[in-house]
Amino acid sequence: MMRYAHIVGWGHYLPERVVTNDELSRLVDTTDEWIVQRTGIHTRHIAAAHETTATLAFEAAARALAVADLHPSQIELIIVATSTPGHMFPSTACLVQDYLGASRAGAFDLGAACSGFVYALQMASQSIATGAVRNALVIGAETMSRVVDWSDRGTCVLFGDGAGAVVLKGSSIPGGVMATTLRSDGSGADLLSLPALYHNPVPIAGAEFAHNGHHKNIVDMDGRQVYRFATNVIASSVQDVLKQSGLTLDDIALIIPHQANVRIIETAARKMKLPLEKFYLNLDHTGNTSAASIPVALCDAVSEGRLEPDDNIIFVGFGGGLTWGASLVKWDVTPPQVSFIDHEWKRARYVMARGRSRLRRLSRRVEAAVARSSNGHKGDDSAE
Ligand code: UT7
Repeated sequence: MMRYAHIVGWGHYLPERVVTNDELSRLVDTTDEWIVQRTGIHTRHIAAAHETTATLAFEAAARALAVADLHPSQIELIIVATSTPGHMFPSTACLVQDYLGASRAGAFDLGAACSGFVYALQMASQSIATGAVRNALVIGAETMSRVVDWSDRGTCVLFGDGAGAVVLKGSSIPGGVMATTLRSDGSGADLLSLPALYHNPVPIAGAEFAHNGHHKNIVDMDGRQVYRFATNVIASSVQDVLKQSGLTLDDIALIIPHQANVRIIETAARKMKLPLEKFYLNLDHTGNTSAASIPVALCDAVSEGRLEPDDNIIFVGFGGGLTWGASLVKWDVTPPQVSFIDHEWKRARYVMARGRSRLRRLSRRVEAAVARSSNGHKGDDSAE
């Protein structure tokens, strides 16, 4: 029997601290006027010192689970699309699994830069379509503020921090994620990059490597070239998913693109002969949050009442890699009303999950101590 991956929950989290263009003009040689005219960005959110990509992702995921009215133990797969994980391992997704107490979930991070959410949505919806999992969490989360060069006016004014999440649920009823296209072109790798951390030298003969010269992990971008690439691939990926699903642009209620620059979307709209209103935009108050931008925009679109049951919507991502892709989704839910008591009770679950996690850590330490002491005794025995 065919399984369809329906979006049944959504949530986002933006850090409290809002940074204005005027504040940035005190850091680098820029103006509010330049940033607004060239990008459409007015403000962005920046994570506080105690926040991490994983804590942002957890907040978005908890909200999405509340809307879906699912217990974390019902989630079987967690994918976090991010380019700003706190660690290569443990993955951000594993930390989120622990914070949620999602005791039955496999978890991994996915790296496809600003296209990451569309890629992750496809991986999760295919896992549901094959029957491998029933419910999945797909999260886009970033702390871009920690990887931009705050002395480079060409990039630091563009990015922001945040996280967005959706819950996917399997059903035999047609709907949800209906068509997806994923593409890449590594020949454009140098146009937009975030180098890996400095590598430790290897003190083994024959294993020395030519160091790549990167001592910092900061975003490097050829803005004009990326701009040109973006305006081309938005139209082509939208056409790909329309063709796959046998629909036309007239059947689409809303396109939710990666929120990089309002001028990119305006150019794409002109190329596609569509009014700008067909595209949802919220980058004026988020900036470019990379893999988080589409799910955050989705949540804003829902709360503004821009989506009706049975609407066809398209997500379009594009970014480093180069990568790009689109998903056509049948939106088939009305936002449920979550009561205050229900909300608070659900939050209490996560306090309990942290408690259980601490107990598991403690019991591992006790086990290790017991094993050490019994090994010590064995050592004594063998010496006798
Ligand atoms: O999320 C991944 C995908 N990323 C993107 O899609 C980003 C794509 N690129 C863009 O959005 C645009 O290329 C930017 C917003 C990055 C730049 O806009 P632009 O209109 O392409 O500007 P530009 O790079 O052609 O620069 C024009 C001028 C330059 O000065 P000169 O050489 O003409 O004297 C820049 O140095 O603007 C200057 N400039 C700035 N001036 C004031 C660059 N950044 C700034 C700034 N404030 N923040």
